Amino acid sequence: MVGTAAVTLAVINCSQVVTLAGPARPRVGAEMGQVGVVAPGALLIRAPRIERIGSTDEILAAVDPDCEVVDAGGRVVLPGFVDAHTHPVFAGTRVDEFEERIKGTTYQEIAARGGGIQSTVTKTRAASLDELVTAGKRYASWFLRGGTTTVEAKSGYGLSLEDEIKILRAIKRSDQETPLRYVPTFLGAHTVPPEYRNRRSDYVSLLIDEMLPRIAEQKLAEFCDVFCEENVFTADESWRILSAARCHGLGLRIHADQLSLGGGAKLAAELNAITADHLEHTDAAGIAALKAAGVQPVLLPGSVYALGSSRYPAAREMIDAGLAVVLATDFNPGSSPTPSMLTILSLAATHMKLTPAEAITAATINAAYSLNRGAELGSLEPGKVADFVIHDCDDYRTLAYFFGVEHAWQVYCGGELQISKSG
Ligand code: NIG
Ligand code: FE
Repeated sequence: MVGTAAVTLAVINCSQVVTLAGPARPRVGAEMGQVGVVAPGALLIRAPRIERIGSTDEILAAVDPDCEVVDAGGRVVLPGFVDAHTHPVFAGTRVDEFEERIKGTTYQEIAARGGGIQSTVTKTRAASLDELVTAGKRYASWFLRGGTTTVEAKSGYGLSLEDEIKILRAIKRSDQETPLRYVPTFLGAHTVPPEYRNRRSDYVSLLIDEMLPRIAEQKLAEFCDVFCEENVFTADESWRILSAARCHGLGLRIHADQLSLGGGAKLAAELNAITADHLEHTDAAGIAALKAAGVQPVLLPGSVYALGSSRYPAAREMIDAGLAVVLATDFNPGSSPTPSMLTILSLAATHMKLTPAEAITAATINAAYSLNRGAELGSLEPGKVADFVIHDCDDYRTLAYFFGVEHAWQVYCGGELQISKSG
């Protein structure tokens, strides 16, 4: 349901306003457990920005006569989740492979015989821009209903200049035509397409000499990502692609050490990447290298769970080492078919031993900084964009505790109501 923008909006009677207020940088160590709760609390919004946070009495004393007042009824308010790693534009599903994996075939075996990412590439190449936008809008509504207001969105199911541009245009249109905010990332190095299998260095050259210059020139991406993994892109190829991307002014992200220890974390550190993502196999030396270079780890427990693995990344060691940990869904049709940040909070708490406060920090303010949006998004502070969610519970820790429940009750983007559930 799309609401009309109030000039001013007050949200009163919140049991907790979880502000995530703090220093103008990502949170590390013990700071990750400090979520800045104002309890009870209220917010004053002058759309699209937050004007003030305080008690209900203070906020009511400050409202304009024509101010719309929303009674939160003792519920909690959080910033919208910032999902800093998703693959949200693709055609079809991989439900057939899902069933095969249940019967014992592995993700890598399916990829090796030309399924996996490649099967989504075949379907995505055959789809029109409009078809991709239509599919993507359905997923946008899932993200919003789950309380997510910003996603990082990767291309990577096109793997030709034309098809990668089609996906990045679909991402741009989704950003313009839905309330969800999209931050675009070029992932042409997601896998080597079959037509280049016997001449992979030609594909790396295509990425560096043709795709990256065109995509940068057309300003279709802010970041470049590479899937650095055995049988995908080597550390050396990844270094060449990411170094070229940096010359075009793109920020660097990398799929690192997901299925094996392939040196991705060390490479991220060498290249001063903004993030290194996955890290299920990263060792102590990799964690130390990320710390020394100030790289943010983006941890994706949804893909560990959905691949039936029990090898979760060493999140506690990363927090103890002082890394500014981020959590994300990795929403994609193969390894992580979930858009739900609430599910990710539950997995992070249960399997990675993050407290609810640490997990929320990783899913909001730290995620916003990893997308260069820390000054605008990820916390509820005066002057920031009013992307916030009223969740139907009275204690924020409940969000990671009752799992499989869509807690979001009302979702606001830029101070405008986008989703409202009854009851
Ligand atoms: O992050 N690891 C590479 N890319 C995705 C999987 C994409 C797919 O299977 O379609 C991931 O897990
Ligand atoms: Fe991914």
